[in-house]
Amino acid sequence: MKTAREIRQEFLDFFAERGHTIVPSAPLIPKDDPTLLFTNAGMNQFKDVFLGTGSRPYVRAADSQKVIRVSGKHNDLDEVGRDTYHHTFFEMLGNWSFGDYYKKEAISWAWELLTKVWGLPKDKLYATVHHTDDEAAKLWPEVTEIAPERVLRFGDDDNFWEMGDTGPCGPCTEIHIDLGPEQCDKKHVPGHECAVNGDCARYIELWNLVFIQYERQPDGTLVELPAKHVDTGMGFERIVAVLQGKSSNYDTDLFVPLLRKISELTGADDEKPEHSVAMRVIADHLRSLTFAIADGALPSNEGRGYVLRRILRRAARFARNLGVREPLLYKLVPTLVEMMGDTYPELKEQETHCQQVILAEEESFGRTLDKGLELFVELTEGLKKEGKTVIPGAEAFRLYDTYGFPLDLTQLMAEELGMTVEVDHFNRLMEEQRERARASGKFALAEKGRDWKVLSDTAHSQFLGYEYLRSTAKLCQWNEDEHYYKLVFDRTPFYAESGGQVGDTGLLRADGEEFPVVNTVKDQDRIIHLVPKEKAFPIEARDFQLEVDHSRRRWTAANHTATHLLQAVLRKNFGAHLHQAGSLVAPDRLRFDFTHYERLTADQLEKVETEMNELIAAALPVWTEWMDYSSALERGAIAFFGEKYGDLVRVVQVGEETLELCGGTHARNSAELLCFRILSEGSVATGVRRIEAVTGKSALELMQKERGVLREAAEVLRVEPEAVGKKLAEVMEEQAKLRKAQEELEREKALAAGDQALDNLKEAGGVRYLVARVDGLPMDLLRENVDRYKSKLQSCVVLLGAVHEDKVSFVAGVTPDLTKTIKAGELVKSVAAVAGGGGGGRPDLAQAGGKHPEKIDEALKAGENLIISALSAR
Ligand code: ALA
Repeated sequence: MKTAREIRQEFLDFFAERGHTIVPSAPLIPKDDPTLLFTNAGMNQFKDVFLGTGSRPYVRAADSQKVIRVSGKHNDLDEVGRDTYHHTFFEMLGNWSFGDYYKKEAISWAWELLTKVWGLPKDKLYATVHHTDDEAAKLWPEVTEIAPERVLRFGDDDNFWEMGDTGPCGPCTEIHIDLGPEQCDKKHVPGHECAVNGDCARYIELWNLVFIQYERQPDGTLVELPAKHVDTGMGFERIVAVLQGKSSNYDTDLFVPLLRKISELTGADDEKPEHSVAMRVIADHLRSLTFAIADGALPSNEGRGYVLRRILRRAARFARNLGVREPLLYKLVPTLVEMMGDTYPELKEQETHCQQVILAEEESFGRTLDKGLELFVELTEGLKKEGKTVIPGAEAFRLYDTYGFPLDLTQLMAEELGMTVEVDHFNRLMEEQRERARASGKFALAEKGRDWKVLSDTAHSQFLGYEYLRSTAKLCQWNEDEHYYKLVFDRTPFYAESGGQVGDTGLLRADGEEFPVVNTVKDQDRIIHLVPKEKAFPIEARDFQLEVDHSRRRWTAANHTATHLLQAVLRKNFGAHLHQAGSLVAPDRLRFDFTHYERLTADQLEKVETEMNELIAAALPVWTEWMDYSSALERGAIAFFGEKYGDLVRVVQVGEETLELCGGTHARNSAELLCFRILSEGSVATGVRRIEAVTGKSALELMQKERGVLREAAEVLRVEPEAVGKKLAEVMEEQAKLRKAQEELEREKALAAGDQALDNLKEAGGVRYLVARVDGLPMDLLRENVDRYKSKLQSCVVLLGAVHEDKVSFVAGVTPDLTKTIKAGELVKSVAAVAGGGGGGRPDLAQAGGKHPEKIDEALKAGENLIISALSAR
């Protein structure tokens, strides 16, 4: 039997032999595409090529792409676990033509691979085509041996593929396989008939060949694209199941080891239907979680992070169905890494990180789940009493917002009680929350191609800024909003914000006038210069001079080089698991986020700082070089995980210390950093820590500021700066002594006041008692006084009250011979009740507080009456 790995390789080899460049899978986290939460198809990484805004050095490509389909247009979440062939995470095998071959080759190669190379029975395969696509319908019987009656036409729902609500799309032709009547899983559904697109497990879609020709606009219209393309996607898990002769994807070597591990850890048995759904869900979700986290995603309360959190919680809920309450998923990570780590090395590299993140999330879910469950029970019982069966949207939202219950979890639990959830209202509340988040979010720059005024055809801006900070240029496209002119030139030295590095600012000259450029941003291949609309801008001018703010760029570059060195130093000291998780590179500071689980100690931070300064002092040269992606990886270059790279990559090397893929601008020598100072270290998210630091001018300014602070302190203390520490210690010691003396004095005063109170000593039933008000004494001194009276008088009952700092306190004491007659605890309780408080304690000593100081006399009087009547009744 062929392994999944062999099958994947055969697919890639087949297309490599037909002139396709094999490209790596793009990360699961799409870069620069606000329309997508997760990569949902192999074609995502080529979206710009289809739209005509980007290009690649090849016209044919193939790969195996990691895909997650849990949100937006393509969402299979609810299917998962219930059937044997839908997944939240799967691999999509794909081949592409960018304006090169078209329908004929796409169809005949697909047929050849399936039937000749893999030997699938020709009479079990079906092809579907879009009902308007006569060309494809005609081609199928012409270029393959498919029987004409097995070419079926369907409408938009089945045979028009779109990436999302907007973006590239087109009609498609799909290949389905008939696995035999025994595979049908809908036999119990009345009226069900097995058919292609009939929604049962007998006919399964294997491969989708899309003929990309349009772009769907936000207003719903279709716009013809400049060229026609082929985009195919085959479900890897499905083809592996077919080729391995398994009736379920979960029976292939892509899942079996995981399921075995789940059984081993939980005792579950996948022969039992009540276990098998849970096991499948857990295995499936674990794959999504691990792959997504390895690509840099983290569970959180919004967007992508929230989707991940939901997946995790869904899996954890199913684990509870297997009787597991403790964290379980994280224990499965090593098994998955063993299975897939060779094909996807990012898994190996991020194994510990993935485990830690999943464990922390499972633990926190365990805690919230318990709390939320209580609330849920309370809520549903209340509703039941009122005879209601619908959980209000606001309550479901509260469960979500406060206790992290995903909606589908609430729905699942509601279903178990025969209840439903008011989903529309919930969604409205979610939308409102999203709106709030959006409103506070930053200025988004999603430009639509058609809004641009095009002056000349140059589609790409050439970036000169690695070598030059000044250049002449011609304006090619422009656009405007309320505040800015947005200008795109044929070439520019301005660096556009990306990879954490801020965009350049500077000046633009035209027609003898100067205009400030306040930021530079990127939209696909456009480098957009933002010029405030303070005065009219001469759009018609032919020649422009562009000049970057040198000093700002210089310090930004220094900080960028510092982040590379910092990553190297951190990895050297704390291990290669440590990886950049984000960064900000600005002229005045840098922020570096990295995967690590522990706070770095002060000593460790000092060591990092020292080593950084040694590398700066070593004046290491910085080299940059362009090379192809695979050579860069072979040379050991670090790629920022989650980042998508083109085929030609820029590699930045600092001495022998680091080799990193990077498009940013850098210092020419580490000496230009001058100095490195850490400002802070802290946690950003589970398993991710952040260092903030400064170099260069800011580091020098920091030192001057610190010197100023020290000098000021020295002046106040009237010593030399070196002696500040010693002097301060002396001052502190002196102060402590004084405080102690002061306290002693107060105590003596209090005791003296107490002695004076003895004048009020009275008698009832032949026993001496004392009730007195001694304001200004804190509770501990009240107690000390009570103890003193007790030992002095031998046999007595004491009740003291005091107003101190706006509060009233009472202490009662009874000598042991009298505790049968009157108990201090009960006495003080009744007294405090009069002053709006409570308290209690032992029969011989008790204390209480009250909220109404003005009631103190009334309370003490009531206490005295109690004492008198108790003692008199003896
Ligand atoms: N992009 C197409 C799909 O995802 C191939 O089905």
